[in-house]
Amino acid sequence: MRAALADAAADDSISRRAATIVLSAMYWRNTWKYESRGYRHLFWDSGTMLANLLACGDAMGLAPRVLTGFVDTAVNRLLGLDVRHEAALELVPLGPETAVAPVARALPPIQLDVVPLSSSEVDYPALRDMHEASMLDSAAAVDHWRTGRLDDASPRSRSSGRTVAAHDREGNRSSAVEAHLVPLPAATREAGRGLGDTIQRRGSTREFGEAPLSLLELATTLWCATRPWDSDAPSGLVDVFLVANAVDGLTSGAYRYRPDAHALEIVREGAFRNESAYLCLEQPLGGDAAAVIYFLAPLDAILAARGNRGYRLANLEAGVMGGRAYLAAYAQGFGASGLTFYDRHVVEFFAPASAGEDAIFVTALGRSRMRVRSEEAKIPVISRLRRQPS
Ligand SMILES: Cc1cc2nc3c(=O)[nH]c(=O)nc-3n(C[C@H](O)[C@H](O)[C@H](O)COP(=O)(O)O)c2cc1C
Repeated sequence: MRAALADAAADDSISRRAATIVLSAMYWRNTWKYESRGYRHLFWDSGTMLANLLACGDAMGLAPRVLTGFVDTAVNRLLGLDVRHEAALELVPLGPETAVAPVARALPPIQLDVVPLSSSEVDYPALRDMHEASMLDSAAAVDHWRTGRLDDASPRSRSSGRTVAAHDREGNRSSAVEAHLVPLPAATREAGRGLGDTIQRRGSTREFGEAPLSLLELATTLWCATRPWDSDAPSGLVDVFLVANAVDGLTSGAYRYRPDAHALEIVREGAFRNESAYLCLEQPLGGDAAAVIYFLAPLDAILAARGNRGYRLANLEAGVMGGRAYLAAYAQGFGASGLTFYDRHVVEFFAPASAGEDAIFVTALGRSRMRVRSEEAKIPVISRLRRQPS
């Protein structure tokens, strides 16, 4: 299969790598609840899974690389996916390089019966249309898309007055910038749980308690969420905004995180629990959380630079960042939950810092009110069984 996959992804390295994991989405798993808006969830969810996969792959020295550009129909066909219901979203080659695969031969189509998820499904054509509108139809198109110029889309390189360098040419911090920046403590590298334990316990916190986060816990989470990863897609498309409700040593308010300076830029000070709950589609989690990360991105600029597939990239990058925030939270012994939101109101809330951006995804952070119970529930069933006397 490797040679066929390498052709479909216009990437020779796949034909030498030990394995390639393909993440696919079954639409109905999200559309039963989110309808056409479920399209975004496909990338948030696969981003959440990718965060785990990248962490495991890196820890095992397997050098995982995320490929977002490929000929969609070729990969779907290779896997025998029924494209009315399911589609491949990302490829992740990993493992050592081996001998080059023989030249691809024509492979017969796979036609498997699939156990339906429900007795009946509702079709959301808008979702399929959106996916089709962002497909690449040949290896040449993949190549062209991948090597396209991206610089203009990157928030870090946009020349609006908002994004100012933290250092002048001599490397001194500019006082104008520093006045608006709250420096964060350096992230802890050795935090609490190991990776396997963290992933076992990772879940979505259903109710946040009042206990605050420390500034170090928040700083570590933001730092971990924004580390680059190996990919054929550009990084830095997504900006990180924050509502701090209960973080020791940090005035409550709205902020923007600046990864380059590892600092928070103040948007507005104030107590915004009510506003944050409202922005998160009136879900109490958004108000009860100690801090809520809002991922925003300049979609117009991204679409102009990357075409329709840029929409996938922005949602995927935010999904991976959110997934990494989950891991950082559970490694440090607190909790997180992905959330959906009112698009326009999120952008208005963070104005003027959010000018030209769109709301992409939200991740809430805090300590679970039902910590003991939820932790117990995460112990794998098998070890619970083993503990019982025979
Ligand atoms: C991308 C993403 C978005 C989510 N959005 C919401 C949401 O809007 N409201 C909510 O209560 N939970 C939300 N969740 C939590 C899910 O309900 C939860 O992840 C799902 O039930 C799976 O459980 P687990 O995360 O504990 O494994 C979201 C989770 C993710 C990963």
